[in-house]
Amino acid sequence: MSTQDNATWIEKDYKQLHPTYHPKSHANPLVIERGEGVWLHTADGRKILDGMAGLWNVNAGYGREELAKAAYDQMKELAFTSNFSGMTNLPSIQLADKLAGFAYEGLNTTFFTSGGSEANDSAFKTARYFWKRKGKPGKYKVIARNGAYHGITLAATFATGLEKYKTMFGPAVDGFVHIPAPNPYRYEGDVKPGETVGQAAARALEEAILREGQDTVAAFIAEPVMGVGGVIVPPADYFPLVRAICDKYEVLFIADEIITGFGRTGEWFALKHWNVKPDILCFAKAITSGYAPLGGMQISDAIRETMETAADTEAWMTGYTYSGHAMACAVGLKNIEIMEREEYPKRAREMGKRLFDGLNSLKEFPFVGDVRGLGLVYGVEIVSNKEAKTADPATTTRIFKAAQEHGLRTRPLGSTLAFSPPLSIAEDEVDEIIKRLGAAMDGIR
Ligand SMILES: Cc1ncc(COP(=O)(O)O)c(C=O)c1O
Repeated sequence: MSTQDNATWIEKDYKQLHPTYHPKSHANPLVIERGEGVWLHTADGRKILDGMAGLWNVNAGYGREELAKAAYDQMKELAFTSNFSGMTNLPSIQLADKLAGFAYEGLNTTFFTSGGSEANDSAFKTARYFWKRKGKPGKYKVIARNGAYHGITLAATFATGLEKYKTMFGPAVDGFVHIPAPNPYRYEGDVKPGETVGQAAARALEEAILREGQDTVAAFIAEPVMGVGGVIVPPADYFPLVRAICDKYEVLFIADEIITGFGRTGEWFALKHWNVKPDILCFAKAITSGYAPLGGMQISDAIRETMETAADTEAWMTGYTYSGHAMACAVGLKNIEIMEREEYPKRAREMGKRLFDGLNSLKEFPFVGDVRGLGLVYGVEIVSNKEAKTADPATTTRIFKAAQEHGLRTRPLGSTLAFSPPLSIAEDEVDEIIKRLGAAMDGIR
């Protein structure tokens, strides 16, 4: 139990800056003291079902002894040492070995970071470097999608396709181009007669490559299921077409699987749903279920071979102090062991179906416009007019707040409420999400 009252904690909390908040609007935060399974306990004695698994990452749920012990044991043995050239450590060797080919065949080399933004940043640098080594230094641009979220380093910010993350930090970093996302509910691009949304959105990629010039485009980056942009699941024909276009124009395909990796969508990695393989894979979040900060990228064997053509004297000049952090990698290894033992892709499919059915039952509310998702990640789009699909962020925020009053944590993303609970969630806890959300919506009606 907390040694101070909630108000004192909140007063002291003013001494830190929080991500993506106006300091004044952070007046009444939930002060979380403890977590257990899917439940969060606050300093003022409330118990809240975490329908977001933190930030889409606490797949194994809170309070896992095994993960705490893995961290403790490794910290006693060796918490950290440099992983820069000339040194390495056992957990990072073991984790890279475990990850070789784990997500996609032919992606056997891992570079570790502390989180997702750094992973994407590293992928952009790697793509640029790859083309330089191939004798095409003019290929530096990255094509991304509107609505994408790729993180908050300067490059990841401008790869992101959500304006509010960018306006206060301009001028824009050069070389990022955006195209429409394959959103089947409200596609913003043009669709030709006879074309599917997937075909139209893929055509937008081809047109962008031609417009920018094939010789200037290094890579295309996409989240297989867009998260912060509103949980957008692409039509099935989209990614196979994207892969073919990337191959045709010599553009590397970077998969940002920072949310979708490690079982969330019902496959270990999400492009598997469409039988597609990226050239670079970025991961973070659920690799440790949030128990330690860790991310990274995996590169294809072809990229690795190209990097190896550099002169012996030319080192790959990038890396973080915490690349290959021994404790974080030990936690990652133990967490993957748990996720395999508890069959998380299968659980995501089973619990996801239950959640999907439950969320669909809420379509009786006049403001529930769309329910979409894959595995155990869902978005419920709130509209003021179902026919016209009029986005309604204000009502979305009201439902979010009401749900919190009913002890359910979700996340408002524009006019979409997101659900991404721990994959360890039990059936009755999935039902609790629906019960609490339904009660919150009842109060709004
Ligand atoms: C798809 C995606 N990419 C990148 C990031 C950035 O990761 P991080 O916050 O660990 O830097 C996030 C974070 O939410 C994300 O959802």
